[in-house]
Amino acid sequence: MEKIIINGGTPLRGEVEISGAKNAALAIIPAAILSQDVCVIENLPLSISDVCIMMKILNQLGARVKIINKHTIEIDARSVNSYVISNDMTKHLRASYYFIGALLGRYGRAKVALPGGCYLGPRPIDQHIKGFEALGATVTIEENAIVNAKAENLTGSPVYLDMVSVGATVNVLLAAVKATGLTVIENAAKEPHIVDLANFLNSMGADVRGAGTDVIKVRGVENLHGCTYSIIPDQIEAGTFMVAAAATKGNVLIKNVIPKHLESISTKLVECGAEVEEFDDAVRVSLGERAGKCNIKTMPHPGFPTDMQPQMAVLLALADGTSIISESIWSNRFRYVEQLNRMGASIKVDGQLAVVQGVEQLMGAPVKADDLRAGAAMIIAGLAASGTTEIEDIHHIDRGYEDVVAKFSSLGATIKRELRPDPNELNGAS
Ligand code: EPU
Repeated sequence: MEKIIINGGTPLRGEVEISGAKNAALAIIPAAILSQDVCVIENLPLSISDVCIMMKILNQLGARVKIINKHTIEIDARSVNSYVISNDMTKHLRASYYFIGALLGRYGRAKVALPGGCYLGPRPIDQHIKGFEALGATVTIEENAIVNAKAENLTGSPVYLDMVSVGATVNVLLAAVKATGLTVIENAAKEPHIVDLANFLNSMGADVRGAGTDVIKVRGVENLHGCTYSIIPDQIEAGTFMVAAAATKGNVLIKNVIPKHLESISTKLVECGAEVEEFDDAVRVSLGERAGKCNIKTMPHPGFPTDMQPQMAVLLALADGTSIISESIWSNRFRYVEQLNRMGASIKVDGQLAVVQGVEQLMGAPVKADDLRAGAAMIIAGLAASGTTEIEDIHHIDRGYEDVVAKFSSLGATIKRELRPDPNELNGAS
């Protein structure tokens, strides 16, 4: 069993380069099959496991994928010859369901097994289905949890999303770009990765307007062509390093970011007493003394991102005073609290609220990564704590953080990956 081992207590110092955005990449990779041409995608976080699986799915569909360098791939979608994706591929990640929208857009057919992904509470896809049906598709869920979507002709239509959903916005966009006529997505998600996907689609010749607002208009075009496109920096990876800098009372320059995407995070860090300096494509975060308390409520963009909630909880766990965290997107995003409390934090959860009573010091402990962002929180906690922290289940972290150990090491952290025997194996159990 591979673990991340951290000897904490050293303030992070130096510079770190942020990778391309995972959640943009996961939407852009399937979008590439909408063209019958070649797309070159740059600034791709190629070594995270979610991206690797999306590339395997491309292969399964018949696309040719060529790795040009550590962050660039070429996708030749001319050879795509299937609209079927099996459960052994889709079970690993949520975003595999973006292939439903993309395959519908390309073929008017998709047979894709229901997706897996981090367990953050129930993750229904009713809004995706509602959008596909509005465009004229029939969608059924068949044996073995296969989503079977068919459309003779996809036709543009108004689509009102009952709740702001990143995934449904992406999927409807993908299905609509080659539909006949105008699709208007109302109550659309406004996350930076939605804008990035729209920019990518437009680079391929699509006509998508209004991305980044809550009304997106898509005028269908007949054909899309290839393009070269560079993915935006990862807002959440950047935010994770920002919080880590503050939680260790360090001073870090975080490079290759879009400071505008980080405003909700910067604002809360400043409220906690950190200094945040913004440059054109970098931010510097420093904190010289103990953080102060602050309250957080997660909201769709431009609100405070739910994907930063566990990391921010670590800073608040060390803050002077009591803070309240209110989670309004996911019903089960406080599982990491049990792990943090093992390290000496004092956090009580009541439904969608967590009351965080700051303590002066966290102590290293064996903990696990319950999901991707919970894992990021464990790393920050381990870096800030005294003593040694061993994190299990780090495959969750590998889903979304590129070179995480190397990046933190370059900031002065004592952190390594290590293969340790699994106690169950030692006992002869499996
Ligand atoms: N929802 C429905 N019905 C739907 C779709 C969503 O009820 O058809 C609900 C969800 O249950 C949830 C809320 O709407 O309560 C928002 O869900 P959304 O669809 O926006 O989430 P998602 O697309 O499944 C993406 C990110 C998540 C991130 C959320 C919220 C990707 C691949 N995933 O998930 O990222 O937490 O948006 O911002 O983009 C992560 O990166 O660690 C991660 C979990």
